[in-house]
Amino acid sequence: MKLNTLGVAHKIIAEKVKAGDFCIDATAGRGNDTSFLCSLVGETGKVIAFDIQQDAVDSTKALLQSKGYDSIAQVFLDSHSNMDQYAQENSVDCITFNFGYLPGGDHNIFTTPATSIPAIEKGLKLLKQGGLMSLCVYYGGDSGFEEKNALMEYFRTIDSKQYTVLITEFANRPNNPPIPVFILKQI
Ligand SMILES: C[S@@+](CC[C@H](N)C(=O)[O-])C[C@H]1O[C@@H](n2cnc3c(N)ncnc32)[C@H](O)[C@@H]1O
Repeated sequence: MKLNTLGVAHKIIAEKVKAGDFCIDATAGRGNDTSFLCSLVGETGKVIAFDIQQDAVDSTKALLQSKGYDSIAQVFLDSHSNMDQYAQENSVDCITFNFGYLPGGDHNIFTTPATSIPAIEKGLKLLKQGGLMSLCVYYGGDSGFEEKNALMEYFRTIDSKQYTVLITEFANRPNNPPIPVFILKQI
């Protein structure tokens, strides 16, 4: 089976997230990651998701409802850079970011480093010790290279005493393959 970026991220996330956990999807989009997190945390867990587009919030809510996950997840029309207003420090098991634009939506609206880097910084504080942040860095095309370049620079500055940052790459895929990144908060 050919593994794409999301497949790689979901494999790692599934190793970590268990029933009853608390997770955040920082970029709800069409709701695929929110729904995946709900499938892992189950009825005893909780997921909150953010997106700045009403289209994305509506899609995510519809997907959650169709899968029977609407009692597990809450979806907020808000920027991920405000996620610290919705969760306590050291309380979150896993946070996902999936950068870029809304699939099937407006390609002129996409994640930008002005909000994504503050959101990551806040997310790292919200993670429990042993918690995982998964970030799929999409770039090129309509969203360009600015965010990818800023993120790659930022990842290298994260305190190595507190966090392990793994930047992975598809070595044999053409055309700006997305970059799966994993950050583990040390115990
Ligand atoms: C690649 S899509 C996410 C895909 C999604 N995870 C899914 O499963 O369909 C990126 C999303 O990030 C959203 N976004 C852009 N800036 C944001 C921000 N500051 N806060 C939250 N979401 C944002 C976009 O509206 C878009 O829906």
